[in-house]
Amino acid sequence: MKTPRTIVVGITGGIAAYKAVNIVRAFVLNGDSVHVVATTAALRFVGKPTLEAISRNPVHTDLYEGVAEVRHVAIGQGADLIVVAPATANSIAKLAAGLADDLLGNTILASTAPLVIAPAMHTEMWNNPATVANIAVLRSRGITIVGPGVGRLTGADSGAGRMEEPETIVAVALAVLDRQASGLSRGAEAATSAVQDLAGRRVLISAGGTREPLDPVRFLGNRSSGKQGVALAQAALARGATVTLVAANLEVAVPSSITTVLVSSAMEMHEAMTLAAESAEVIIMAAAVADYRPKMVQLGKIKKEDVGDTLTLELVKNPDILAGLSAARRRGQLIIGFAAETEADADRLLALGRDKITRKGCDYLVVNRVSQHEGFGTERNSVTVLDRHGVIVNEASGSKMSVANCILDLIG
Ligand code: CTP
Repeated sequence: MKTPRTIVVGITGGIAAYKAVNIVRAFVLNGDSVHVVATTAALRFVGKPTLEAISRNPVHTDLYEGVAEVRHVAIGQGADLIVVAPATANSIAKLAAGLADDLLGNTILASTAPLVIAPAMHTEMWNNPATVANIAVLRSRGITIVGPGVGRLTGADSGAGRMEEPETIVAVALAVLDRQASGLSRGAEAATSAVQDLAGRRVLISAGGTREPLDPVRFLGNRSSGKQGVALAQAALARGATVTLVAANLEVAVPSSITTVLVSSAMEMHEAMTLAAESAEVIIMAAAVADYRPKMVQLGKIKKEDVGDTLTLELVKNPDILAGLSAARRRGQLIIGFAAETEADADRLLALGRDKITRKGCDYLVVNRVSQHEGFGTERNSVTVLDRHGVIVNEASGSKMSVANCILDLIG
């Protein structure tokens, strides 16, 4: 059984506070211990009894309650992670200035735990130079900022400023926590800076499985769900990177703070990756790309009466995107490929990986055994990472998020 971590959820006074209930619930269901610190303004939007019932703990607001137990610092000192959602423009300004005029401010200042904030406000406030400067200050301190998303705001308007969806905030927060727990960042200083070790890096990731059309209703596809690629994108985002995701037919949602280019076929992915690679510093080809596509795409549906008992398809080779990107690699660009193999024998699996990295010319290859029950579509993964000389540089087994972080350690 896993040891529960202590997560402090700070809620400030914005309408998105009602969505914080789902964030609290997700952490509780994940087996973590959750303590809510709400500002008085937050409690005008969401009720204390709701938060207490969902968090299964008392909700604290008042700086002058629990003085005997030195509550204003005790909550922060006991936290493994602090998540502020929603973070209003006012609370962001207070954070940037290091103000401690309420319990949440004291809790944050008294804590050495990583801090994740989810801004929520109107577009004008988000774009205001004061907020822009405050956010830059928070980023420079290693604070993880999730969102905001772009979409419908409280009134009739829409734009940037909408709080990121609760499941995305939770996924990013847990990625930060996992990384913290993996021992890669020990001590207060390291804790906040190491989790942002990809700050400002431009990372391009492909995910999902391509579909090669046969006719308007049919395609040749594969079993990739895109979960590992999306986990990579979320983990890179949590570590401060600017992420572009080229996504083919995903079965999972992508946070709106990730620039996503939707594609379907290998040729579309080839075009999108080639274009996006021009400005990327790190490229990770996690997508399962079809090696062949039908030579002819029928304009109308293929009919049995026209075909008869057997249908022979003529396929032509698709470009090898990874090999092409590696061959055209710019100076300083780092390229990571994946190898999906069905080989059961560990030594033969590695031999296939070594052969593949030589053919692909990338810097690292993540060797991944796949079957109906492993790799594709599952929640967990088990990988071995080879460098260009075929030397094992990392092995990881666990949730796709923890595997993603091990892969990103190669570039951090
Ligand atoms: N890949 C690619 N373009 C292709 C095929 C694969 O960029 N046309 C990339 C995948 O995204 C992955 C790596 O190459 O990063 C290896 O893919 P994999 O399917 O394991 O290997 P293949 O190149 O298809 O070789 P084989 O089918 O012989 O195993």
